[in-house]
Amino acid sequence: MHHNPIDIRNLSYAYPDETQALKAINLSIKATERVALVGANGSGKSTLLLHFNGLLLPQTGAIVVGELAMEPQNLKAIRNFVGLVFQNPDDQLFMPTVWEDVTFGPLNQGIKGHELEHRAAAAMKAVCLDPTYYGPRNANNLSGGEKKRVAIAGVLAMQPQVLILDEPSAQLDPRCRRELIYLLDSLPLTQLIATHDLDLALELCDRTVVLSQGSIVFDGATERILSDSQLLESYALELPLSYSRPYCQLDHAPAA
Ligand SMILES: Nc1ncnc2c1ncn2[C@@H]1O[C@H](COP(=O)(O)OP(=O)(O)O)[C@@H](O)[C@H]1O
Ligand SMILES: [Mg+2]
Repeated sequence: MHHNPIDIRNLSYAYPDETQALKAINLSIKATERVALVGANGSGKSTLLLHFNGLLLPQTGAIVVGELAMEPQNLKAIRNFVGLVFQNPDDQLFMPTVWEDVTFGPLNQGIKGHELEHRAAAAMKAVCLDPTYYGPRNANNLSGGEKKRVAIAGVLAMQPQVLILDEPSAQLDPRCRRELIYLLDSLPLTQLIATHDLDLALELCDRTVVLSQGSIVFDGATERILSDSQLLESYALELPLSYSRPYCQLDHAPAA
């Protein structure tokens, strides 16, 4: 799969109450690249992601996804191209049953019949949800992690070329988180993953972008940022567990 890069030029965004959430963002993402977006709470990650499928439109600057400029006449095409999984699954799930939630997107794309069933079932299986068991259930009655997986399935069922995930592992238990990492690793899609989970970033993304107070303050190799404790500290990020092994010395110390 090849598409033109995603390109953000000089994007700024202020909310109606004048909170300046994004300041002159420049970001380019190549096809099939997987990029982690990290930063403290309130640094602007979700605001940036909402721009990728036109839920927020650029106030200043420009966004091009694939070859489509982020403009009202292109929104339908852009939303087929980019799948966005919200931070809070309650913002994404609104149908009476899980099956209706997962089929909602592809139905809107005009997919019907056997193809629709196949896509929805495959997407649910990809996130470890048994369609027979979960399909008829009401998403309101599911746990946070289950809801998150339903939201991801609904986006996968649309077969986007670009997958944008806002805190995908936040509500997952360790096993689901591990399965999510395998899933994302196996998908040959362009991915942008906003996360507090720096171990996940390290496993999945060669490249990390750090946001601080609406500005990009680092864009480079994940290894580099994650091994620089000063940089991490100055942007209120926690060292990944796989980097902090305070007892290593003791573990391997020869018996006294
Ligand atoms: N609907 C909104 N109205 C006003 N300010 C908002 C709104 N949503 C977010 N903000 C503010 O915009 C900034 C960026 O928020 P957000 O993009 O949610 O950050 P993050 O996802 O990194 O935690 C924060 O200062 C936040 O308080
Ligand atoms: Mg957020």
